[in-house]
Amino acid sequence: MTVDILESYDAVSRRVQDFVSAVVVATPRLTLGLPTGRTPLGLYAGLSAAGLDWSGVRTFNLDEFEGLAPQAPGSFRAFMEARLFRHVNLRPDAIGFLRGDAVDPVAECARFEGALVAAGGLDLLVLGLGGNGHIGFNEPGPHLVAETHVVALEEGTRRANANAEAFGGDRQRVPPRALTMGMRQVLGARRVILMATGAAKADAVAAMIDGPLTTACPASWLQVHPDVHVVVDRAAAADLGRRGR
Ligand code: GLP
Repeated sequence: MTVDILESYDAVSRRVQDFVSAVVVATPRLTLGLPTGRTPLGLYAGLSAAGLDWSGVRTFNLDEFEGLAPQAPGSFRAFMEARLFRHVNLRPDAIGFLRGDAVDPVAECARFEGALVAAGGLDLLVLGLGGNGHIGFNEPGPHLVAETHVVALEEGTRRANANAEAFGGDRQRVPPRALTMGMRQVLGARRVILMATGAAKADAVAAMIDGPLTTACPASWLQVHPDVHVVVDRAAAADLGRRGR
């Protein structure tokens, strides 16, 4: 795991943008895993304006809220369309996404997993980090799940996702369940770059990097991955080195 500690949110966004851009340029048929959330907003703004050729890129997003149609305000698909997809020349059929409104969410998870396997897995996975240490929507708990699966969200996760635009800041309006890529495809990605910014992530960043491998911090499992690049700002790095391994 390499760790870059940078001065600001903007510096983190630029560093990750440079990294992803270089991979897009260098990899003709890239399969790219993507996150949602506030953290990658600067990254997506930068990538949208960069004028890269995305015609050979295939994407798979990490997760989606159960019950939300792709066009629904608050869906991760709508977020991705607004923040990245509509600004670049990705082929529509090259966008891999979980359908939150699938009649059979379990079958939808199996379809998504199959598509990801058929694509040969992820060449590069960009990750954010939940304040509770989740990656995608792999939430802390007594166990983790390997395959793409349906998950019950923690109340804190619903609160963190209750953005004003889509859910009026009301945690109760955030769907209680989601569909998410599981740990196998996350840890099976050939390269991972994780971005985290702000003081609210400091504890999770420290648990991820300095803590033991534990299902209480799903991101801690990235320690076993051979090619993980972590990019954080000073606030998110504040607790690093304070706990023993
Ligand atoms: C969300 C997403 C994650 C994201 C994380 C952090 O709920 N499911 O993929 O990385 O939580 O979000 P944010 O960047 O808004 O802090």
